[in-house]
Amino acid sequence: MTALAVLISGNGSNLQAILDSPECSGAKVRCVISNRPDAHGLERARRAGIATRVVPHRGLQREEFDARLLQCVLDCSAELVVLAGFMRILTPVFTAPLAGRLVNIHPSLLPKYPGLNTHARAIEAGDVWHGASVHFVTEELDGGPVIAHARLRIQAGESPEDLRQRVHAVEHRLYPRSIAHLCSGAVTFRGGAAYLGDQLIPPQGLRLDSELRALTA
Ligand code: GRF
Repeated sequence: MTALAVLISGNGSNLQAILDSPECSGAKVRCVISNRPDAHGLERARRAGIATRVVPHRGLQREEFDARLLQCVLDCSAELVVLAGFMRILTPVFTAPLAGRLVNIHPSLLPKYPGLNTHARAIEAGDVWHGASVHFVTEELDGGPVIAHARLRIQAGESPEDLRQRVHAVEHRLYPRSIAHLCSGAVTFRGGAAYLGDQLIPPQGLRLDSELRALTA
């Protein structure tokens, strides 16, 4: 069983997907940590009987906040730290000690569209494909090696909000599946890169419905 700490700032629907997924039976969420005391995800955790912690960011320098956050993660003996809608930019104070054990989900096909407003940016650019990425976290914002992508075709005339909802739904399958492969040791981080077994994962990541499924078939 792999011990997880899940970090959230808001709704926590990805947290819920991890808790509910049979694919994550090899993972145990030890604690849910939020920088916001009113994050709905904390309520989801309490309902599931999971310990919660709040590390407020207000009034702190980034490095000081990150040091407190790191201590909180270490206190709950997490082997894998899962960012699920955690809306803080992290410094090496937090990312360096957790290298290879820290993952994030981002609503774009990274390396396209790091940062915010990804859905509107993809539509405005006239992209055919959009989606979500799971990646190892490094100090570069949304810049660490990609583990997996889930792609969606952008529909004609689709609004950013409609696209956001469709991407969100696909995230709920992508993240539990990716976490399962991290927990089983199939996906690893070595020398700053992501591997599936002995194979280097290409920059576009594994595809939700092909490589990851093939691995479990
Ligand atoms: C998701 O869109 C995720 O990609 C991004 O933040 C959002 C979190 O949603 N990092 P939720 O709180 O899990 O519902």
